[in-house]
Amino acid sequence: MIGKRVVAAFNDQINHELYSSYLYLSMAAYFHSVNLDGFAGWMRVQAKEEDSHAMKFFEHLRDRGARVELDQIDKPKAAWKSPLDAFRGAYEHEKFITSKINGLYKLAEKESDYPAKVFLDWFVKEQVEEEATASGIVNMLERIKDSGNGLIMLDRELGKREFKA
Ligand SMILES: [Fe+2]
Ligand SMILES: [Fe+2]
Repeated sequence: MIGKRVVAAFNDQINHELYSSYLYLSMAAYFHSVNLDGFAGWMRVQAKEEDSHAMKFFEHLRDRGARVELDQIDKPKAAWKSPLDAFRGAYEHEKFITSKINGLYKLAEKESDYPAKVFLDWFVKEQVEEEATASGIVNMLERIKDSGNGLIMLDRELGKREFKA
């Protein structure tokens, strides 16, 4: 049996993950608009990953006989001052998502929901990676500063990312 509170919190998390996907897709559109197609490609992969996170919660609820109820997705920000500004935004957003995952973990513990806890273990680890990746790119962009060459090289590098299901 899955408790009502866990079901509600998991449904909320589906919304957070879909919003994450939407936010990164919006960042991809921004990067395309400033001709940084490698950065845009990276963000498009990121958006797909977030969609797959939402689906993990969707499937967990389905597997446990609970009802998925989708909510409205907020409009994401559409413009950033610079690549650094966008990646700082991504890093801040991932920290927010980590706080949400930790909150779910706490709730699962409180409700003695062991299947939820085991399920959430993957997300706890994933968030460590998500924060490390975003802050790593923020770091590189801070070092690149206004170097056009550095930006072009990083654009080429980030453009290599591929979506792995
Ligand atoms: Fe996610
Ligand atoms: Fe994420």
